[in-house]
Amino acid sequence: MNGLSAFLLPRGVILTRARRFSSVSTERLEFDKFGIPTEVIQLKREETKFNLKSGEVLVRFLASPVNPADINTIQGTYPIKPTLPGVGGGEGVAEVLETKGSKLEPGDWVLPGLAMSGTWRTHGVYEEGNLIKIRNDISVESAATLMINPATALRMLEDFIPLRAGDWIVQNGANSAVGLAVIEIAKIKNLKTINVVRNRENIDELKAQMKRMGADEVLTEEEARRAWRELPRPRLALNCVGGASGTELCKALGEDGVHVTYGGMSLKPVIAATSHMIFKNISLRGFWLSRWYKEQGMNKTRLKMISQLTDMIAAKDLSPPPLNPIPFNQFKPALETTLKGFKGAKFIFKM
Ligand SMILES: NC(=O)c1ccc[n+]([C@@H]2O[C@H](COP(=O)([O-])OP(=O)(O)OC[C@H]3O[C@@H](n4cnc5c(N)ncnc54)[C@H](OP(=O)(O)O)[C@@H]3O)[C@@H](O)[C@H]2O)c1
Repeated sequence: MNGLSAFLLPRGVILTRARRFSSVSTERLEFDKFGIPTEVIQLKREETKFNLKSGEVLVRFLASPVNPADINTIQGTYPIKPTLPGVGGGEGVAEVLETKGSKLEPGDWVLPGLAMSGTWRTHGVYEEGNLIKIRNDISVESAATLMINPATALRMLEDFIPLRAGDWIVQNGANSAVGLAVIEIAKIKNLKTINVVRNRENIDELKAQMKRMGADEVLTEEEARRAWRELPRPRLALNCVGGASGTELCKALGEDGVHVTYGGMSLKPVIAATSHMIFKNISLRGFWLSRWYKEQGMNKTRLKMISQLTDMIAAKDLSPPPLNPIPFNQFKPALETTLKGFKGAKFIFKM
């Protein structure tokens, strides 16, 4: 029997809450200074003995993805700076192993509620109030990747402009995890999407895959530049690229359209043409999910949104992005390529 197995009390009662574990083998990807991720991240392995305080929960992570913001956080360029030494990772799904004075039960699935809480770890101890319980009948991959990218997609579709069935939206970086979630959530809402991606060798395959997910139009940046006049005028534009690609979305927008920047993958500033601002009255806005989460705390709106997303997943209307599963000891390629283009799939640590 290993340290994680329930042990029998003298009268044969199986203790499921507040079990005393002997030491457990744990792993985490830790950094003790900000810098180039492949240079500062180290795999730490140790035997850990957990002794919970009241209100604490011991969890075992099942999977945690590698998102662009995780890399920026380790670089020290993200507005959220964990105290050092820090553990990488901003989202993931974990299974409850042990609780003390908590309503959570062993076997429950939870998401960490705090931003950049360090999810690239096998085990963690959290206060109950910082965990969000989710249904555990969905795939581990969907659960591990829902809290940041699909949540961003949903908020941007709901919070900027009232959209009605049949309205069009336009987005660049449309093959990103956020972009794919936008396509699927827009389909649920009967919205139409124009999706702009960069050209590549397997462009037809990518277009077909995105259309199967519900994309109405998928265009390369070159095709989009020539097609705006013939396309319907969207009311909302979602920009995760910046530079010329962001400017093109202003061109695509209709009168009074709203242009929302949520990422800057090209590292270039957002520039709007004077004429689009004056004659079409477009607005340039920004969105940051961490701010939205901070404003909400753990209120009902936030919990409702998470269960809305898990229900979409259970109904097979929302799928995880293409993923490349890796163990912790193969972290280097994930750190090297996450901010580079044309990676095809997002890395995810499977524990
Ligand atoms: N504001 C927020 O609250 C919030 C929340 C979530 C995500 N984000 C941001 O949204 C963006 C997408 O995140 P994600 O996790 O969905 O991304 P992802 O799945 O890792 O995909 C990255 C996307 O960026 C594109 N890309 C990479 N390098 C590029 C470049 N130099 N020029 C143009 N496009 C490039 C990729 O296109 P190719 O396939 O063509 O390379 C792909 O579409 C990131 O900037 C992320 O930080 C922001």
